[in-house]
This record gives sequence, C-alpha cells and structure tokens, in this order.
Amino acid sequence: MQEFVGVDEMVRQHAVEAMAKAGIEAGTNFEERFHRHFPDLHHLFHSLYGSRSDWADQLTALVLQIARSWQERPAELKVLDAEREANSGWFLSNDMLGGVCYVDRYAESLEGIRARIPYFKELGLTYLHLMPLFLAPEPHSDGGYAVSSYRDVNPKLGTMEQLRDLAAELRANGISVVVDFIFNHTSDEHEWARRAAAGDPEYSDYYWIFPDRTMPDAFEQNVREIFPENHPGSFIQMEDGRWVWATFHTYQWDLNYSNPDVFRAMAGEMLFLANQGVEILRMDAVAFIWKQLGTPCENLPEAHTLLQAFNAVCRLAAPSLLFKSEAIVHPDEVARYIDPGECQISYNPLQMALIWESLATRDVSLLAQALKRRHNIPEGTSWVNYVRSHDDIGWTFADEDAAELAINGFDHRRFLNSFYVNRFPGSFARGVPFQDNPKTGDCRISGTTASLCGMEVDPAEAVERILLAHSVAFSTGGIPLLYLGDEVAQVNDYGYDREAGHEHDSRWVHRPRYPEEQYERRLDPSTPEGAVFAGMERMIKVRARTPELAGTHLIDFATNNRGVLAYQRPGQHTRILALANFSDQPQSLPAETFSGYSSAAVDLLSEAVLQLDDGVTLLPRQYVWLRVTPA
Ligand code: GLC
Ligand code: GLC
Repeated sequence: MQEFVGVDEMVRQHAVEAMAKAGIEAGTNFEERFHRHFPDLHHLFHSLYGSRSDWADQLTALVLQIARSWQERPAELKVLDAEREANSGWFLSNDMLGGVCYVDRYAESLEGIRARIPYFKELGLTYLHLMPLFLAPEPHSDGGYAVSSYRDVNPKLGTMEQLRDLAAELRANGISVVVDFIFNHTSDEHEWARRAAAGDPEYSDYYWIFPDRTMPDAFEQNVREIFPENHPGSFIQMEDGRWVWATFHTYQWDLNYSNPDVFRAMAGEMLFLANQGVEILRMDAVAFIWKQLGTPCENLPEAHTLLQAFNAVCRLAAPSLLFKSEAIVHPDEVARYIDPGECQISYNPLQMALIWESLATRDVSLLAQALKRRHNIPEGTSWVNYVRSHDDIGWTFADEDAAELAINGFDHRRFLNSFYVNRFPGSFARGVPFQDNPKTGDCRISGTTASLCGMEVDPAEAVERILLAHSVAFSTGGIPLLYLGDEVAQVNDYGYDREAGHEHDSRWVHRPRYPEEQYERRLDPSTPEGAVFAGMERMIKVRARTPELAGTHLIDFATNNRGVLAYQRPGQHTRILALANFSDQPQSLPAETFSGYSSAAVDLLSEAVLQLDDGVTLLPRQYVWLRVTPA
C-alpha cells in the first residue's frame, strides 16, 4: 500500500481494513480511486469532526459504508462511471437540454413519465428533473420536499424498482435522471424524527432540539424567516414541549450535521439513490445546512466543507454522480458553491431574476452587468439557466451592483413586486404574491412563464416575451432548463387553492397539471402554443448544432443601447453574437457597433444574412444569434 501524505497512519490502516472487510481486493479500480481520493475525504471529515474523540472511528465506519455501496453498485452504472471519467466534460455539451416536472402533475405516475419518453426525445431533452417523488406526509408535504423515507417512492407514483427501470430506460434514450437530495431536513414523519419525538436521545441528536426557548431565541436573533406567512420564526414546539429547528415548514425538521452520525446516515441515503441510476442530485437548500450561533446560519464555511465531503464520498463510490447547487442567495454566495470538487452545476438564479427585471423595465442594464461580471465560473462547471422553476421568483440581485447603476435595490424590488402582481398600471404580468412580509417589506412572485409574460393580456406579445426570455437562457452558456408546460405556453392555475394542502402556498399557481389540449395544439403555429413551441424547437435545434454555445464561457458586448442585450460566445474561429431587444420599440445599432467583425453575418435562427456594415435593426422583442468572424 502506498503512503499518504498528511493522513493519520492509524486512520489509514483502519480504512484499508474496512475496505478489505467489504471484500474489496487489491488492484481493483476502487482501490485505485481510494488512493486518489481518501486523503481529501480524510481532510474534510477531520475538519468537520476532528474535535470529537470518535472522529476516526466514524471515518472508518464511513469508509466501510462507501466500499459496500461500491460493491453493490450495478455493473451498468460502473460502465457509466468509466465513460464519464473518460469524458468528464459531458455535461458542458451544447446539446444538453434539461426539463423539469412533477411526476403526478405531468404524467400521473412513473409509468406515465415512461410513456412520455418519445415526447422528451422529440423535444431534445438530455436531462430530466423529476420533482420530489419520495414518501412524504399527506396532504402537507411542501410538494414532496418533506421526505419521510429516501428509500421509498411515494406509492401514488410507483415503486423504487420502477424508478430504477425508468432511469435505465431514460439513460438508454440519452436522458439523465435528476432527483432532489433533500438533505437539509426530513419530514416529521421520517423514522428518525419519530424516534426523536419519542424521546430517543440518539435520534434527538439528529435534529436541533432544545428543552426550552433559550437557544431558539438566541439563534433567531440572526436567522431569516423563509416562509413567514406559514410559520414565523425558525423553531416549533414538539408535543413533549421541546423545540425543534424547522427553517421551512413546521413539519420539515432541520438535520444536525454537527453530528457525524447524520453525515454518515445521509451519505448512505445519497449512495442508495446513486445506485438506483440517478445521475445528478439537486442539492436542496444548500445554504442552510450548517448552523452556528450568532450567525445568519446561511452560507457558512462548513456548508461548503460538508458538500465537498459528500462529493468526496461520491468520487469513491459513485464517481459519475454530479451535484447541482440550489442556492437562491446573494450572487457572491451562489458562486461559492460552484466548483468541480463541490457542486459541478448550479441554478443561475441571478440571470433568471434579471430576465424578468429586464422584461418589466425594458432596460437590460442590470442583466448586461451581471453577464459581464458574474457569469464566468470555473472550468469544468456549468450553470443551469432557467426562466422559472417550481419556486417563486425572488429578486436576488446584489444591492451594490444596482447602486452602481444608480438603482436603489429596495425601491426597485418594490417596483418589480408590484409590476408582477399587476398592481402597477399598464403591467402585462399576471403574477401572484408569495410570502408577502409586512415586517420586512419583502415579497416574492408566483406565476407561470406565460402568465407573467402577459398571455392573459396580449397573447401575441406574450409569445414574443416567452421566446425572448428563453433565448437568453438557451444561449448565455450552461444547461438550459425548461419547466415542462412552458413550451406550450401554459398559464396560471387559479384554482390551485382548492387542492388539499395547497391553500396557503401560492407557488401552486404555477404548478398546473399536464395541459393536454395545449400540447395538442403545439404543432399549429397559428396558436400561441404552436408559436411558442416552434420558436423553442428552433432554438433547441440550432443550439445543438452550434459548438460555440457549448460550455459557459461568455464575452460581454456593449451595445450602448439600454434596450438591447448582447453577449458573445467564443468558438474556435467564429463567435456567436446574441442580440435581444427587450424594448417595445424597434432598436437600431449603428455599423460602428460591429466594427470588430467582418461585414457579413448569418442569423442562425432565421438563416438570414445581415450586412453588419449597414448596422442592425431589431424589431420589438426580436432576438438573433449571429455567427460573426472577428475581423
Ligand atoms: C427548496 C425547494 C422548495 C422547498 C424548499 C424546502 O428550496 O425548491 O420548493 O420549499 O427547498 O425543501
Ligand atoms: C428561499 C430559499 C430557497 C427556497 C425558497 C423557497 O428563497 O433560499 O432555498 O427555494 O425560499 O421558496
């Protein structure tokens, strides 16, 4: 056995013994990875738990778990691991396209999802995020984000075996399955929570449970409320009088990662999911996973260490698994989770929010500034660019960025909120407020893409806005992620509050059921559904054959026109210059704007040839993807 630098000899010895105990033989591929990655895991685990006397035993137990999980990993997934190790940038390809849906709302069940595979292929999906599908309390489950067992599929949707089969069938069709890893909290019906509630001290330590209000009061001095309408504060009282931490809803109890048993238990659940054929885990609520008295308990350094430690576990036992970060926080903090050794991909909440901001203001200044300053991320990582998700839209731009453009962040958010909930005269948007907080003046926005774009007010303009918004998400760089139903312009579900458990959560307004009739009209371009579908299809096809659009690297481009967004995507000899007119007027860019390029360019979307030396005029809400050659 080779020596490790910086690894405790005793610990190494025990880890090697654990490997042997799991039946791993010398000279195997696992042993090779163990040598490469164990020092990282050792270091990370020590930095989290090294002050505890049992830390080395805990690490040995973890290694045993990891080795066993590898032994159980199905052969076809080991083949996938080898393929992905040989092609580690697979997810940066320009033909990547994501879709997201709720299993029950979109297709009733896992079998229903399977029946839609031909459609997913027609659309060009390579990534399918199935919203939380695990056992959860009824009727209150936060859309499945309160998990009662990570090893059981909600029986209404199917079984774990069906999920495994579905993942294999999707993989055979070139589609990777993405599921949520909801690791910040469990539901109060999870076995661990039930035992904690029954007073079991071992499981009480799985959560943040206190005998009285002293510690909760102290923590609450600094933490923000996430769902203040439903549940003020961050703690709730248990039946026996104790208090338990619940950042989100009262029935979602935060796990205590300062306890290494919790880390090991959740690593086990993670590897179980990986071995079912899940290829990407959406790491839910990453910002909240570490708590420290006297801090806001968000984005703490240990949250990063924890993610890196989970990632090191994967490099050993499920090497092809990727992590996607869900951090809907300040853009500086969002960026800190993105790293090949932490989360390889991340939602891009800033771009999402600023697309909506630009649509409302018809001014792209903030969005252009964000692309210039905040878009480029490390090699080997990628954004997931989206126009909307299953969650609300929060205005997470940085106040300091806005201030540079003479925009007051607080006032601007107020304006955006009133614009999107149609309290602003002349607004096209039909959104609904989410978590209106009179204490802080804070509010977020619910609504489908079509309704926020004005489908109920002016369908023709709405179609153009939907496509304009997606043209940005499809071309700035990263994996575009489509909320399924948006490609046929699905509007708000205003009856959402009649469903049990949804009454007090306006996010359900934008989580409607599968729109059968709208899908039927998708091939008729005279309908809004057909117009949106045709426009998206065009972008998807063009993107897939445009190598300049691979990866995330972006070069900014100044138009000196506040209505027109522009950016360049560099290829080997050519670039794509994307232009998008967010104003309601035609906009002309003079020839000088394009002086760095040779005179002719093709718009890949319309195939029209443009003479750049005549300048370019864009119609209201028009977008073009020009292939240009630097002169
Ligand atoms: C994530 C989900 C959101 C959920 C929350 C709590 O942010 O996207 O829907 O409410 O986590 O799990
Ligand atoms: C907050 C959280 C985010 C969550 C959202 C749910 O913005 O930061 O993680 O998805 O609330 O609405």
